[in-house]
Amino acid sequence: MNNSVTPATNDARKGDVVAPTKEKGWFYTDTVKDHFFHPKNFLEDEAGYGDAYLGMVGSPACGDAMKVWLKIEKEADGTERIKDFKWKTFGCASAIASTSMLSVMVTENGGMPIEAALALRPQDIMERLGGLPARKVHCSVLGDKALRSAVMDYYRKSGQIDKVEVEAGRLIDKVLKITDHDIEEAVLEGADTLEKVQARTKVGTGDPSCIPEVENLIRFYKEKYFGA
Ligand code: FES
Repeated sequence: MNNSVTPATNDARKGDVVAPTKEKGWFYTDTVKDHFFHPKNFLEDEAGYGDAYLGMVGSPACGDAMKVWLKIEKEADGTERIKDFKWKTFGCASAIASTSMLSVMVTENGGMPIEAALALRPQDIMERLGGLPARKVHCSVLGDKALRSAVMDYYRKSGQIDKVEVEAGRLIDKVLKITDHDIEEAVLEGADTLEKVQARTKVGTGDPSCIPEVENLIRFYKEKYFGA
């Protein structure tokens, strides 16, 4: 089987791939399967990584977790490069393949500068993998979120406190106490319209004045994670 994929044409979003046979079901590219069966940079033994910068996140969508260890070096010109990226997860095939690919992307060619790694988009990983089923996108962002968490650990430990971003949710529906993170997770789980997000979160039913902002957030997260 080769890596050629056919963009889905029905209700699938960008990033979806379908089997060339057009049979119903998921299709994983050979690249995804290769990274799943032969994951790169998976951490077998934590010995030697006690001083690495650590990031850990969980997925509200499925309860799975991801842990990332980074080694970062500062060059003479001040560039901070990621020289090593190791990871472990309880996640599924999509999380394993995406994080394996991410680990290759940030360490190849001598290591990516931190700023470039933080600017990577989920679609960049998708492109290298040849696509993932849209409903698995929430798995593919786990590695990226753990990477960010590990970079924040580096900023804290290297005294660059002004660069530390704290993942605090912004209250959107003040009556039901629903945050932008709740909207983000709903979109990652496949809710791509206001109605679908409301079916999952009830956002706006307590405070209808927030609905325009909810619609903006849905557009923002769809663009961020699905490029559409
Ligand atoms: S289902 Fe949990 S990471 Fe994919």
